[in-house]
Amino acid sequence: MPIEPINPPARLLMGPGPINADPRVLRAMSAQLVGQYDPAMTGYMNETMELYRGVFATANEATLVVDGTSRAGIEAAFVSLIRPGDVVLIPIFGRFGHLLREIAERCQADVRVIEREWGTVFTTAEIEAAIIEHKPVLLGVVHGDTSTTLAQPLDEIGLICEKHGVLFYSDVTASLAGNTFETDGWGLDAVTSGLQKCLAGPSGSAPITLSPRAVEVVNSRKSIEAGIRSVGDAVSEHPIRSNYFDLSQILDYWGPKRLNHHTEATSMLYGARECARILIEEGIPQSVERHRLHGTAMAAGLSGLGLELFGDQSVRMNNVVGVFVPSGIDPDGGRSTMLTDYGIEIGTSFGPLAGKVWRIGTMGYNARRDTVLTTLAALEQMLRRGGMTITAGSGVGAALDSYGN
Ligand SMILES: Cc1ncc(COP(=O)(O)O)c(C=O)c1O
Repeated sequence: MPIEPINPPARLLMGPGPINADPRVLRAMSAQLVGQYDPAMTGYMNETMELYRGVFATANEATLVVDGTSRAGIEAAFVSLIRPGDVVLIPIFGRFGHLLREIAERCQADVRVIEREWGTVFTTAEIEAAIIEHKPVLLGVVHGDTSTTLAQPLDEIGLICEKHGVLFYSDVTASLAGNTFETDGWGLDAVTSGLQKCLAGPSGSAPITLSPRAVEVVNSRKSIEAGIRSVGDAVSEHPIRSNYFDLSQILDYWGPKRLNHHTEATSMLYGARECARILIEEGIPQSVERHRLHGTAMAAGLSGLGLELFGDQSVRMNNVVGVFVPSGIDPDGGRSTMLTDYGIEIGTSFGPLAGKVWRIGTMGYNARRDTVLTTLAALEQMLRRGGMTITAGSGVGAALDSYGN
């Protein structure tokens, strides 16, 4: 049987990510390859660094993309910053806090955690108390945890970390460009992200930024691999325990030395560059406001349908909302109807929320009025067919009211 060319079904991806990529990003990714050290390529790399400084709101020289999905960025940051035995503090309020813990443990950190029930976040005082108790080398916090749809307020944590001499890391995969975030303004030392949420691209490239203090730590562990090493180049007795994610070598590849490391994933670089270019053209505050506008309309529409929203709404991310699956509706059957009848994907949940909560995203290219209204109209029909009593048009109507017309 011949295998046909790829021809995916038409889908509107309204889950917690991935979402439909901006067509401009897909076009950029289909451009022809150039060589690794072609001046055009190194020029694109430099432009990508500059664009992501804007997206991350930082002046950090060390701003680039790691090849791999978002967790590649997390692994690169952790394995390069954490020495075995270092105390690392992870506040966990959802699935991705557990992922940070898991990765820190694999880096052989002495991991300490504090935990909150899913649907809540920590107070700044709780995080400071844990810093004082555990005296970590590094604090690792997820900003927006997609699993619970909530964002941990981080704006006051940087000063606390500075006071206690702690490196401050955050995973902003789900929140960057959809929610206010400032790397320098909030005092972060290391931040990693992905393209597949508010950046409107596919997964496969992990933007990262490191403060000069973080670069110092990374470079103190530098070991240039044999074969490209020159006389006088660093060889450490305690090198970073991953070659692929060794940020000291990756920085030399992206920096003026252009020291060979991996072969940069050219098509992903084109995509990552275009994601950031589009965002900078729009303006980051404008992008955050767009996500707030459409996320608020989606939440209003879901409430209008009579659904109960999940979690502390005062700290909900702009770009994704959780709703309890109403009683009598099959959680998987409902999602399946949305996909087969309407071509719309909405998200399931993990862990304690599995089977109880759907997650609906309005992010990146899909943070638009038409996608919000279409999704609410389809949801109404799916819920009615499932036996729920709903006033006709109540979801779309509430969203329109939220838009102010
Ligand atoms: C907050 C957060 N961190 C990390 C990840 C892991 O990303 P990836 O699947 O791209 O490795 C995700 C994915 O949804 C996420 O939402």
